[in-house]
Amino acid sequence: MDRFKIEGGRRLEGTVRISGSKNASLPAMAAALLTNEPVHLTNIPAVRDIITMAKLLAHMRAKVQSEVYPPTEVTISAEEISHAEAPYELVKTMRASVLTLGPLVARFGYARVSLPGGCAIGARPIDLHIQALEKMGATITVDHGYVEARAKRLHGAKIHFEKITVTGTENILTAAVLAEGETVLMNAAREPEVTDLAELLIKMGAKIEGLGTSELRVQGVEKLHGTSHAVIPDRIETGTFVVAAAITGGDVTLTNCAPRHLTVVLDHLRRCGVEIDELSESSMRVRARKGLRGADITTEEYPGFPTDMQAQYVALATQAEGTSVITETIFENRFLHASEMIRMGANISVDGRQAIVRGPSKLSGAAVIASDLRASASLVLAALVASNTTYIDRIYHLDRGYEYLEAKLRDLGANIERLSSPS
Ligand code: UD1
Repeated sequence: MDRFKIEGGRRLEGTVRISGSKNASLPAMAAALLTNEPVHLTNIPAVRDIITMAKLLAHMRAKVQSEVYPPTEVTISAEEISHAEAPYELVKTMRASVLTLGPLVARFGYARVSLPGGCAIGARPIDLHIQALEKMGATITVDHGYVEARAKRLHGAKIHFEKITVTGTENILTAAVLAEGETVLMNAAREPEVTDLAELLIKMGAKIEGLGTSELRVQGVEKLHGTSHAVIPDRIETGTFVVAAAITGGDVTLTNCAPRHLTVVLDHLRRCGVEIDELSESSMRVRARKGLRGADITTEEYPGFPTDMQAQYVALATQAEGTSVITETIFENRFLHASEMIRMGANISVDGRQAIVRGPSKLSGAAVIASDLRASASLVLAALVASNTTYIDRIYHLDRGYEYLEAKLRDLGANIERLSSPS
């Protein structure tokens, strides 16, 4: 298993190109199952989850072609498929595999998808996906850890999500586009990744209204066709580099990003004393010339402060003057990074869904363990400012969602090295 060795204390300077969004690419790849024509996707990040999704589609006998490996552009042709199934071996490594459920049942009338089970950051059920498909006429059974969905043809329905769910909205949107009649998704997720998916589906011939709002109206069509689509930039990778620049007192320009997808995060970091100049619609310069000040955050659905930026903000708060109260409302058990940062010298107390960070603290290098994707990123950030050497174990979590993280950080002046060991 690989690990990172990081010598902290370097100021980051230079330019970094942000990759395409992992969380937008995954539903886009699954949406290619909706048509027998090729769907060409660009700006795909070269990360482990994309390879897992490609494997999953290939398991279904869809053709996944890419000129490069790992894939950053893919053409997916699901002319026919032979296994409408997402097996446990793939779902257990990536719960977003569940995104194939909606497209499969909508186009082929059958899907068998392993239940994702628990994960480090909480229970994360898919009950809302299932209830919505049932309302659209699917017969669902759960057997041997698999969800099986059957429907001759799905029909439109009024779906009110009891809780806002990102992949739930995406799954049902991709089912509704081929359903008979009108589907209304209420209390839908408004994340930019959902809007990007809706834009791709419209290019494929779908009829969707209400993009960017919490009510999506879909008129089902008989058939969709192939298209080309460039996926949006990764707003979480963007936020992670903004924090990396800020925490090291650096001066970093980010390109190929979309500052408009991060308004709340950027405004919040400005309040903490980070200077952020939006240079264009796709670039910004981040500097931290004065000391950082702590501030409270509460994670919320979009457009609120994203839960996927919470851990990185905790790292920043350890270096900021004053007390920051961080409240996590989306997932239970999402402060696993705090105990590792405490081992590095941070002053953090966690009580249920709240973490109180008192800063600034001098962090010192230690051996720490990454527990999930974003927690791993936050430990890298903490290590960048810690004295001496930090070793971060289990970075396979990071490889799921960050493209060439160590190379990008090294280009900005960080002293970070991947130590490979035989698995
Ligand atoms: C997506 C993102 C993930 C992000 C999360 C919240 C992808 C691939 N992943 O995950 O990075 O952290 O949104 O922004 O896009 N819930 C239920 N029942 C359901 C579905 C969800 O109770 O059927 C609950 C979850 O347990 C959680 C909350 O709803 O507490 C939000 O989860 P959801 O938005 O579904 O997260 P994901 O789509 O899995």
